[in-house]
Amino acid sequence: MDIVRADDADDLGRRAARIVMATLARAPDATLVFPVGATPRGLFARLIGEHRAGRLDASRARVVLLDEYAGITRDDRRSFAAWLRRDLLQPLDITADRLLAFAPNGDRDIEGSRIEAGIAAWGGIDLAVLGIGLNGHLGFNEPGSPADSRARRVALAPETIASNARYWGRAEDVPPHGFTLGLGTLSAARRVVVLASGPAKRSIVQRLLADVPSPDLPASVAHRHPAATLIVDPDAAPPG
Ligand code: GLP
Repeated sequence: MDIVRADDADDLGRRAARIVMATLARAPDATLVFPVGATPRGLFARLIGEHRAGRLDASRARVVLLDEYAGITRDDRRSFAAWLRRDLLQPLDITADRLLAFAPNGDRDIEGSRIEAGIAAWGGIDLAVLGIGLNGHLGFNEPGSPADSRARRVALAPETIASNARYWGRAEDVPPHGFTLGLGTLSAARRVVVLASGPAKRSIVQRLLADVPSPDLPASVAHRHPAATLIVDPDAAPPG
């Protein structure tokens, strides 16, 4: 796993955007995975700026949503799909048919295989852009998730519920389950970029850099990936 130390949060977004744009320059219909959350905001702003300046045409890209809450309605504004559409896809003129996303009300047993089949039909994932959770999760692959896990329904860890309570008002309102691409699904991506920004992520980044791959730290699957890059801003970067 390569480690890139960005100059600041803005530079982190710029560097991640450069990787996305290089992927689309090589293959305009590339299949890209994006997360939502606070971390990719700078990346999204940069991509939208490039698009508005006429330097990026992402209209042929195919996008897979990393994860989603389970048990909410399809039109809930707090769904990750609604969030990604608002903050990235609509501004980039990527049409709804080019998004492959878990249905929040999808069948618990078959929604994962539907998404895996969709990814396979698109020729696999070219680039997976990921955030890292405070507990080291990727998507909703919480600690204990097997390295070869595929897309599936999962229970959210207490730390994830506590951390996502800011988007729901209070922890009791956060859906206790979600859908997520698996660690095996993400490991099969041709390129993986993990972003970490802000002081709250510093200790998990430190653990990630020190740890050998282990299910206790889901993000550590990136160590085994042949083309994985961790981009950290100074607040999230351990000294060194
Ligand atoms: C959330 C999501 C992840 C996200 C991560 C970090 O719970 N399941 O997809 O990458 O946690 O979120 P943030 O960037 O807001 O810190």
